[in-house]
Amino acid sequence: MSTDPLVVFTPSGKRGRFAVGTPILTAARQLGVDLDSVCGGRGICSKCQITPSYGEFSKHGVTVQDGALSEWNAVEERYKSKRGLKEGRRLGCQATVQGDVVIDVPPESQVHRQVVRKAASARAIAMDPATRLYYIEVQEPDMHEPTGDLERIARALREQWDIPAITSAFPVLGRLQPALRKGAWKVTVALHKSHTDDKPRLVAIWPGLHEDGLFGLAIDLGSTTIAAHLTDLDTGAVVASSGIMNPQIRFGEDLMSRVSYAMMNKGGDAEMTRAVREAIDALVIDIAKEGGIDPSLILETVFVCNPVMHHLLMGIDPVELGQAPFALATSDSMSLSAAELGLNALPAASRIYVLPCIAGHVGADAAAVALSEEPGKSDDLVLIVDVGTNAEILLGNRERVLACSSPTGPAFEGAQISSGQRAAPGAIERIEIDPVTKEPRFRVIGSDLWSDEEGFDAATAGSGITGICGSGIIEAVAELRIAGLLDDSGLIGSAEQTGTPRCVPEGRTHAYVIHDATATGGPRITVTQGDIRAIQLAKSALYAGARLLMDEMHVDKVDRVVLAGAFGAHISAKHAMVLGMIPDAPLDKVSSAGNAAGTGARIALCNVAARVEIERVVGEITKVETAIEPRFQEHFVAANAIPHKTDPFPELAKIVTLPPVSFNTGGRGADGEGGRKRRRRG
Ligand code: FES
Repeated sequence: MSTDPLVVFTPSGKRGRFAVGTPILTAARQLGVDLDSVCGGRGICSKCQITPSYGEFSKHGVTVQDGALSEWNAVEERYKSKRGLKEGRRLGCQATVQGDVVIDVPPESQVHRQVVRKAASARAIAMDPATRLYYIEVQEPDMHEPTGDLERIARALREQWDIPAITSAFPVLGRLQPALRKGAWKVTVALHKSHTDDKPRLVAIWPGLHEDGLFGLAIDLGSTTIAAHLTDLDTGAVVASSGIMNPQIRFGEDLMSRVSYAMMNKGGDAEMTRAVREAIDALVIDIAKEGGIDPSLILETVFVCNPVMHHLLMGIDPVELGQAPFALATSDSMSLSAAELGLNALPAASRIYVLPCIAGHVGADAAAVALSEEPGKSDDLVLIVDVGTNAEILLGNRERVLACSSPTGPAFEGAQISSGQRAAPGAIERIEIDPVTKEPRFRVIGSDLWSDEEGFDAATAGSGITGICGSGIIEAVAELRIAGLLDDSGLIGSAEQTGTPRCVPEGRTHAYVIHDATATGGPRITVTQGDIRAIQLAKSALYAGARLLMDEMHVDKVDRVVLAGAFGAHISAKHAMVLGMIPDAPLDKVSSAGNAAGTGARIALCNVAARVEIERVVGEITKVETAIEPRFQEHFVAANAIPHKTDPFPELAKIVTLPPVSFNTGGRGADGEGGRKRRRRG
């Protein structure tokens, strides 16, 4: 048996015997321990930090003596004095084995570290980005050996990093020579290894050791908003998040009106493509500024978007998506460069990955939700609803996953609502209506106090009370129903019928006054009959989509419901169910997942294997097309009632009793009862 010292690594538990004098980094590499290095053991990158432990370790069967590692050396001292090194830490490339030792690899030194998501379901993201940095020393050119600088870079990578061959992105070629000379033939290169390329691609080069990091963007390109997370590709940390309105709104609020704009106006598609690319450029500059980095450090971007946005981003006319059979130009994932995509704020060689689309109406955003929420790994039957202008709906378990999208329109985002507004300080986000007094109390974004609590006026003096946001309108409609001010057909009662002066006439219908500050020049915030109709249309579309998937799955109920989407996280489960937005389920089985599409984009950005995974999963998802399915219309009409005309809601009945009121006086009728033609919106 070898008498060489035993080296045990934690937390991996990997162990092996190594000759005295072996650097810890070498031992780690031989055992396959995940220990980072950018400089290849030259003692300049500090990525290889480790913590030796001393004493008796009965668990590992070793005793670690004081001199188990070589002495602190000049390289470590220099590093510590210049940059600082935590107490007890050593550089793994400098410290060598002298005796049996236990070595802890801290998370920061692991390449494939886990980044825990902040969202409710705290699943970790394993870091394994496609782009990594390598420090190399390149041989100088020589009259007798007429190879190019790129070829000598490739040789250095082969000899110093065991990377057999590379290609170079064209825009980087012009940067090689100045970087090599400025760095005195020592450079750091960024190599992008895509799952679809056989050779890594050189995408950036810096003289000397590059220490400013590498960044990526995860972009959720929605019809209404564009949201981005700037992510450190080394640590996985989100260093800045930012969003802007999609400027394409001026061509049409929803997806289908944008498709018609492209159909009716020659060059309209190119105009919309230009608008969205310019907006992304502006967003890149903004978010880099917010994160305190140079945009040249953003070397990867992942996009998730619906099919129409996908085509408009790519510069493809979306006209085919406006008519059956809704053919996509391509449903595959896309890998290309920022220059090819016409994005100017990113480095030209920076790589772009667009998640695959599921079908003509079910886009890469739904694929991202599937990546984030993993319905295909669920033991119980889960319904995932990503609430937005267009709802992405997934239903499935280990056996099968179905997906569809449903045109809910912008009502859930506070648009098309008389007092609606975006979620911003001053917007009513929570509301309760007393079933006896019929009086409301509410909370606005920016304050934790309810409107009937002391200090509310002072707390909201800055923002004012300006309108109702999406989650607020859902609660308002549901509370009106619970308080008996709204009947199941969606009619608001009059003051006489309901016994509250808050129900005021508005044309031939009625409205409920939540807040009236007109006496002091402020707004009057009401829920009108028109608002109720807009919400009924939106919720019916959502429910009908879910129901269609349930039909396809041959089930009448689901085990759990996940509400996702930027504002899905803020929706109260009880109110969503009173409204009949989602099928009946035990309340504790309704959870929110935050912005699942954005999270999916982040996962794909940080982990290249996740891209392979989602491409596989998308192929296994069964798409259900709502637009051509006659049962959708039937479900839509039945779902117009609050909560539903025919479907029972036994779980809801356990917690809320809905008053059996009816305000239909015969003359007016239930005018919203499925009467409006359904539109597909974005
Ligand atoms: Fe770079 Fe040790 S590997 S400092």
